[in-house]
Amino acid sequence: MKKLIIIVFTSATILTGAIADEAENTQKEIVEIGQKVSKKLLKTLVSELKKAMKEGGPLKAIEVCSKKALELTKKVSQQEGVEIKRTSFKYRNPKNAPDKYEKEALKYFENALKEKGKLPKYYVQTIDKEYRYYMPLKIKDVCLTCHGDPKHMDEKVLNKIRELYPNDKATGYTLGDFRGVIRVSIPKSTIEKHEKQHED
Ligand code: HEC
Repeated sequence: MKKLIIIVFTSATILTGAIADEAENTQKEIVEIGQKVSKKLLKTLVSELKKAMKEGGPLKAIEVCSKKALELTKKVSQQEGVEIKRTSFKYRNPKNAPDKYEKEALKYFENALKEKGKLPKYYVQTIDKEYRYYMPLKIKDVCLTCHGDPKHMDEKVLNKIRELYPNDKATGYTLGDFRGVIRVSIPKSTIEKHEKQHED
């Protein structure tokens, strides 16, 4: 009897260990894919922004942002087999408004920043058939042209933004502020496939 208990106990411990390992691997895969995709989107948007700024200044860049940001986000999503969105509590385009899970993630980053004075690198959620990876975005110098204090913004730029986005919430930021997140939804099946490839 004692032996049996020991065997049962040992197998349970091994099993729990295996599950913990698997969860750790899954987390690693999610972070790997999420990071790769977020960086690709950032690179795509920033290079498009810089090109437009060079060609026609901030007014041209606003046009590019408003016409192309969602389109480019969709394109990268399709290329990578995931779904990407940029979102924030203070959004400019109502199409980027956060859902309840995204609000939870935004809150997580806000609280962490308040408590630790530093933004965590990422946040991960599991929802039904998908994992969600979140990368926080900070305000840099270049962002202030269009997201800064309205008092210091170029009047033409501000007018153009107000014309395109009458309910804009995305101004009043200062350098280093938490601006929002890139959210990457990865189907669970993609992670399973990825894990198999690593095993082979
Ligand atoms: C030339 C003006 C311009 C600059 C510079 C700019 N943005 Fe934006 N930003 C916009 C516009 C316009 C939108 C709305 C895009 C849309 O319609 O999807 C936007 C939307 C966003 C969104 C999506 C959420 C929302 O508010 O709709 C995030 C996040 C964001 N910007 C972050 C940044 C960051 C971070 C920087 C600096 C690296 C930056 N932006 C620089 C004009 C700009």
